[in-house]
Amino acid sequence: MRFQQSTIVKILAVGFSSVIFTLALQAGPAPAPDGSDLFKKKCSMCHAPDGKGYSALKTPDFTDPKYQASVTDKDIADTIKNGKKGTPMPAFADKLSEDDINSLVAYIRSLDSSKKK
Ligand code: HEC
Repeated sequence: MRFQQSTIVKILAVGFSSVIFTLALQAGPAPAPDGSDLFKKKCSMCHAPDGKGYSALKTPDFTDPKYQASVTDKDIADTIKNGKKGTPMPAFADKLSEDDINSLVAYIRSLDSSKKK
């Protein structure tokens, strides 16, 4: 009888803690959007899958440390939001969320060849 009771207590304890665990997971922050995935889907046709750009389109080489040094995160985010007038670079403000744009900025920064080992 004693053995059975303690077994039940254990089962209840395990069940209870897994509920807490599940709740904790659900309460956690939503996963950040994947910049590399967005880039592949929305940008790589003009900026090349590796971000090096196409000379025919005059897209900049995002892997070039000189390019990276020439722009701030805000410049990059503003270009993504508003596009560049007079160039094929489209505005994405109504297509992408603020989080999406931030993850793209981070992804573009990660392409900097001087940061790769
Ligand atoms: C239809 C083609 C096209 C698409 C799609 C496109 N771009 Fe561009 N983008 C361009 C061109 C062309 C330029 C160069 C504009 C210029 O001549 O200064 C550019 C420039 C940029 C620049 C640099 C601006 C500067 O002066 O430093 C950034 C950053 C950029 N694009 C990000 C993105 C991101 C992120 C996406 C996807 C969400 C994207 N682009 C999708 C064509 C495109």
